Amino acid sequence: MFSLETFDIKLNTEFIGRHFIYSEEVECTNTILLDKENKYNSNGTVFYTEKQLKGRGRKNRPWYSVKELNLTFSILLTGKKYITKNPVLLNFVASLAVGVSLENLYQLKVDLKWPNDVLVSKKKICGILIESTSEGSKIDRLVVGIGINVNQAAFQGSFNYPPTSVKLELNESVERERLLAEILNNFEELLLIFIENPGSILKDWKQRCYMIGDKISITEGEDVKYGIFEDVDENGFLLLKDNNNKIEKIHCGDLSLR
Ligand code: BTN
Repeated sequence: MFSLETFDIKLNTEFIGRHFIYSEEVECTNTILLDKENKYNSNGTVFYTEKQLKGRGRKNRPWYSVKELNLTFSILLTGKKYITKNPVLLNFVASLAVGVSLENLYQLKVDLKWPNDVLVSKKKICGILIESTSEGSKIDRLVVGIGINVNQAAFQGSFNYPPTSVKLELNESVERERLLAEILNNFEELLLIFIENPGSILKDWKQRCYMIGDKISITEGEDVKYGIFEDVDENGFLLLKDNNNKIEKIHCGDLSLR
């Protein structure tokens, strides 16, 4: 059972998670916060569930998580100051917050994979899905959905990237309440830094992205591109260098090492 009291004691934030909704079971935490009809408007609201029936990932892939073993939640950003023109960059804030938390609490060596995965031992431990709604041409709410494999020890099905969990890496179960509070504490801190100085977030993110400099392929539907992972630019685009040293900006796609 997730203890709200244990979580609350460890939460040090000003606004992230101060409005916290706990649910036993829901279709999808992102959908709940995106839907204005649900009237969750407060900046920093966190919707947490023990079980998602229709969890989704990037490209509408399913996101499965065994009930009561992991962390499945979404963070709502509605404040003008937090709605950036380029929401892609929030992927870096969120994945860095998860990565730093796993390092701080369990001394795990994390590898951040462009654009938004957190890997440990070359396996996926966390997925992030950022979605938004707009009023006219302006984004009015951003939802940062985060799924972390915490105490799940076995994974069934076929995966784009092999999964792991904190338990599999440490050989023991950990307190999910403490990890969630740590992630929200770090997310708020990094979000505030990001608003003032997005470059410093990208710098910290890049320090944990071990694929920079490697030969990679990027798959987007039927299209596969090959080259060297040169860098990530200030807008979060991956810079791919081809055989002729020509740089192409990549906006999205699945990255693999070659
Ligand atoms: C990915 O790896 O493609 C992203 C996975 C994102 C999963 C989280 S779990 C909480 C939120 N609700 C969802 O349905 N998806 C995100």
